[in-house]
Amino acid sequence: MKNFRAASALVAVTTGCALLLTACGQDSEGGSQEKKDKKDVTIGIAMPTKSSERWIADGKNMTASLKKAGFATTLQYGEDDPDQQVAQIENMITQGVDALVVAAINGEALSNVLQQAADADIPVISYDRLILGSPHVDYYASFDNEKVGELQATYIVDKLGLKSGAKKGPFNIELFAGSNDDNNTKYFFNGAMKVLKPYFDKKQLVVRSKQTRLNQVTTLRWDGGTAQKRMDDLLTSAYSTAHVDAVLSPYDGISIGILSALKSDDYGSKAKPLPVVTGQDAEVASVKSIIAGQQTQTVYKDTRALAQVAADMVTAVLNGKKPEVNDESTYNNGKKVVPAFLLDPVSVDKSNYRKILVDSGYIDAKELG
Ligand code: GAL
Repeated sequence: MKNFRAASALVAVTTGCALLLTACGQDSEGGSQEKKDKKDVTIGIAMPTKSSERWIADGKNMTASLKKAGFATTLQYGEDDPDQQVAQIENMITQGVDALVVAAINGEALSNVLQQAADADIPVISYDRLILGSPHVDYYASFDNEKVGELQATYIVDKLGLKSGAKKGPFNIELFAGSNDDNNTKYFFNGAMKVLKPYFDKKQLVVRSKQTRLNQVTTLRWDGGTAQKRMDDLLTSAYSTAHVDAVLSPYDGISIGILSALKSDDYGSKAKPLPVVTGQDAEVASVKSIIAGQQTQTVYKDTRALAQVAADMVTAVLNGKKPEVNDESTYNNGKKVVPAFLLDPVSVDKSNYRKILVDSGYIDAKELG
């Protein structure tokens, strides 16, 4: 393990005692020692955007978990601008943070700034999204991202009754994926496609637009408006005489955009029912939409648990210990396999949202109106 500056900050050091008024004294062997007080250890948190509810919650949860662990924190949002995020991380390094927790906007844009972090012996935890192309990513805290895609696709398969022996279909489906600069995107998409493929092969599912490759279906920065525009175009070009039965959507903000396009095209009546529309993040707007019978499903990822995992990683690393991980093979960032702790995502629809989201305290019932 690297000889982190902050690790040595938390263990006994023998110099500089006069600089700190706290925790200086004699160690058990009688030598003088100084500990950097935990509250003087600052963790820099870089989050991607405030435009989505989930990242606001992530920032709050991360701050709370680190404060509970006794650390000071500084939190910045990059507003989906990769350059701004780089500048924010640079500032944190200059300010002398002791560790960084980063949810990247563009997974490949951080190599230089992470080199600066490494030069300053600052450990880096990659949060939710894997940082690519840098050897200076120490640990990764996330969810089982492939499983997210599997849950979305399995929901579609079940809802359309495709597993029944009756060889139901063909049903029309359109595919959406996340931002092409987010490493999670391909895991979600590939996880879903693995589940859907047998039904494409048997022609029980058909993509009328023929846009089935990842690079044809991505949505830059996960933007709902961009997804809405693409769905509008798909409805015009491929569905003037056909009905969309399902839309694979990787994220709630995208699902809301897709649903807007569908509603503008008069979907949502008995004669023209809305398709099955998946999602991810269990954002309040989408849970409301699910309750109203519009969006069909979402994937819940407990960001409180994710923040706790990342905070535990920070604590372990700064104490010179190895954090708990449960995956040391999946997440190769191009320079190294980053040891990861992956949490379990959960599929949510109208039938279980109350139990999973409300009873667990993740969403306050009042917010759902
Ligand atoms: C992904 C994340 C998803 C969703 C999406 C858009 O990286 O894993 O849960 O939040 O970004 O923000």
